Amino acid sequence: MNLLVTGGAGFIGSNFIFYERKHHPEDRIVCLDALTYAGNLSTLASVLDQPGFRFVKMDIRDREAVFALFEEEKFDIVVNFAAESHVDRSIENPGIFLETNILGTANLMDASRKYGVGRFHQVSTDEVYGDLPLDRPDLFFTEETPIHTSSPYSSSKAAADLLALAYYRTFGLPVSVSRCSNNYGPYQFPEKLIPLMIANALADKPLPVYGTGENVRDWLYVEDHCKAVDLIMRNGRVGEVYNIGGHNEMANINIVKIILKELGKPESLITFVADRKGHDMRYAIDPSKIHAELGWLPETMFADGIKKTIRWYLDNQEWWKTIVSGEYQQYYEKMYGNR
Ligand code: NAD
Ligand code: DAU
Repeated sequence: MNLLVTGGAGFIGSNFIFYERKHHPEDRIVCLDALTYAGNLSTLASVLDQPGFRFVKMDIRDREAVFALFEEEKFDIVVNFAAESHVDRSIENPGIFLETNILGTANLMDASRKYGVGRFHQVSTDEVYGDLPLDRPDLFFTEETPIHTSSPYSSSKAAADLLALAYYRTFGLPVSVSRCSNNYGPYQFPEKLIPLMIANALADKPLPVYGTGENVRDWLYVEDHCKAVDLIMRNGRVGEVYNIGGHNEMANINIVKIILKELGKPESLITFVADRKGHDMRYAIDPSKIHAELGWLPETMFADGIKKTIRWYLDNQEWWKTIVSGEYQQYYEKMYGNR
């Protein structure tokens, strides 16, 4: 099997490559990544020189280059992780989200059609469903929940999902789509809640909690997401959407308190700052379809996963301290300077 993993130098894509190497060492993997601020080749150091692995620095917006790679490689499966992924950045600058997340995905699917790819898997997000109210804990996102996006990021992801499903119906491209809840684990860029709070706490810097901190996210350890994507792209039905989540809803403020406790830092570091524009209140996934059809269940409980994650950030300070220098420092000043 010849597998294309786009966005494999990012957080989930790199964890997915490690998962595939471990569980399907017989498969060849080509990782395509533009190495934006969020992509880091050093993350892939352990697999870069392995036989059956190839890294290609490429932008999915570059249609000609994408087509040339597909012609050369004749992929069996394409898994598209490549995206602009941070909601706050999409509020600052929506354009690049539309280009990469929508047009880039279209380029990959057009090449998949032309070169007869056997499965195109689109990695999407629960954010396409919008949000749920805090006072209705009985409500969950199912695959039938209407698309109702809040941010330029989630809108661009929803557009790509709909395009993928349209390519299935119109052209018969064998697509599948997965919509996962919030991931955490090793190699997550420290602009996202959990690694940002770990990094700030370690530096005794204020921990910026948006609004009241009551917003709820449904957290899943990244390896459990990778396992789900692997199952869907190999055994999931084409033309179908699968929700992925582990029923682990937590308020942001509680996550932050857990991190401080684990690191032995005072809660006085918590600083409530101006809320995110259009901030979604609650995400909660109903994962019964993927459980019933593919037998998927999460394996890492949050209490263990968060300890493992904090340990990883403590043990790998060079990885994140290098990437938070430079461009990221300017971003941090811009986002949090006047908040
Ligand atoms: P990330 O930002 O850590 O990584 C994105 C990767 O894509 C980076 O390596 C980046 O260099 C690459 N990339 C960006 N633009 C590109 C382009 N034009 N061409 C080629 N490569 C490009 O993101 P992540 O958190 O790993 O998310 C991966 C995917 O999973 C995204 O599609 C995201 O929407 C989805 N997702 C993320 C989460 C989460 O909690 N992080 C949850 C559900 C779904
Ligand atoms: O639900 C899946 C989505 O999860 C993915 O599709 C996105 O790619 C991923 O970035 C993530 O989106 P969120 O917006 O939920 O993640 P983020 O880590 O940015 O924020 C999590 C929550 O924490 C959210 O309610 C905003 C809040 N927050 C975030 C940051 C960065 C803060 O309170 N302070 C912060 O500094």
